[in-house]
Amino acid sequence: MKLKIAILPGDGIGPEIIKQALKVMEAIGNRFGHTFDYSFGLVGAAAITTKGDPYPEETHRMCMEADAILFGAIGDPRFDNDPKAKIRPEQGLLKMRKELGLYANIRPVATFPSLIHRSPLRQELIEGVDFLCIRELTGGIYFGRPQGRSEDGQTAFDSCVYNREEIRRICKLGFEYAHKRRQQLTVVDKANVLATSRLWRETVQEMSVDWPEVKVEYMFVDNAAMQLIQHPPHFDVIVTENMFGDILTDEASVITGSLGLLPSASIGIHTSLFEPIHGSYPQAAGKNIANPVATILSAAMLFEYAFGLQAEGTAIREAVALSLQKGIITEDLTEHNQTYTTEEVGDYIAQVIYA
Ligand code: IPM
Ligand code: MN
Repeated sequence: MKLKIAILPGDGIGPEIIKQALKVMEAIGNRFGHTFDYSFGLVGAAAITTKGDPYPEETHRMCMEADAILFGAIGDPRFDNDPKAKIRPEQGLLKMRKELGLYANIRPVATFPSLIHRSPLRQELIEGVDFLCIRELTGGIYFGRPQGRSEDGQTAFDSCVYNREEIRRICKLGFEYAHKRRQQLTVVDKANVLATSRLWRETVQEMSVDWPEVKVEYMFVDNAAMQLIQHPPHFDVIVTENMFGDILTDEASVITGSLGLLPSASIGIHTSLFEPIHGSYPQAAGKNIANPVATILSAAMLFEYAFGLQAEGTAIREAVALSLQKGIITEDLTEHNQTYTTEEVGDYIAQVIYA
C-alpha cells in the first residue's frame, strides 16, 4: 500500500521525536510492504519565523491532500513570555484543528506493566487501567466568541459555546467506542454551573435511548479529576468538552508514569491527525533526551485509524513494550539506571520491527 502522509515536525523537540517515528514507519514499510509518499510542512513558531503565519496556506493544502498527518509539537517560550504577542504558535494548532475539522481527539490511557513502578500512584491503584478519553477539539472556550479585552484593557473575556450538533457528533463517538469496549461511558461536565454542560447532558440523555446497552454516567469535572487518581480502573470511555479534556488528559498521563508515553488521534471531517499529547518541551530541544515513545505510538494509531492497518499498529506497540521492558528508555523514565538517548530508543524500536 502507498501511504500519502503529511509530516509536520513543529517546534522544540518536535523534529527529533518525529525523526524517530519516521524510522519506525520505515521499518513497518519494509516488513509489511508499504511505501510512503511524505510531504513536510511548517507549523508553529517555525512557520511564524519564515512565513509570518503559524499555519500557512501551503501547509493546509498539503494536509488536505494527504491521507493522514503526523504532527510533532508546537510552542516556543519566546512567545509565552510576551503576553502582548499578536501571533502565537498555538494559534497554528488551533487553526489547523478547526480548518481540518478535527473535532475529536482520542487519547488512550493504559498502564505498561514494565513501568508500573514509575507511576507516582500505588501499584494496586493502577493495575489494569485502560481507558479512552475522547476530547472535543474544535469548540468550547478555545474557540467561542466574543473573546478579548474591553476597550480600557481592564477586563478580559472568553466564551464557552457549544451547539447541539457539535455535542451530538462527539458524544456519538463516545457511545460507539463504549459499545466496542466495556459499555461504560462517563460524561464529564460542570452541569451544576455551566449552561453548555447542561446542554451536553440533555443531548446525551436523548442519545442514550438509542444505546440501551451502554451505561452512561455523568460526573462533574472536579470530581472526575479526583476519581481519576483515586480509582482510575473505574473508567472505560470518557467524553468531555475541549478544555476539561485538555486538563484531564495531562492528569491521566501521570497514571502511566510519563507524559512522554501518551499518543493521540484527532479525527473528524476531512482527514485525521496523529500527535503525542505532550508539548514542545523547549528545554530539551536539540539535546537528544526527549522521549520519542508518544510520537511512535501516535504513528501506530495512524496505521490503525487512518488506514485500518491493525497488524502494523500492533507491531509498533509490541516493539515499544519490549523497549520499555528491556529498559531502553529516556531519562524521564529512568531513576538511577542507564539512560538512553532519543535516537537510541528510536533505533532500538525500529530494529525490533526489522528483526
Ligand atoms: C494539547 C495542547 C494544546 C491544547 C495547546 C498547545 C494549545 O496542550 O494539545 O493538549 O491546549 O489543546
Ligand atoms: Mn494539553
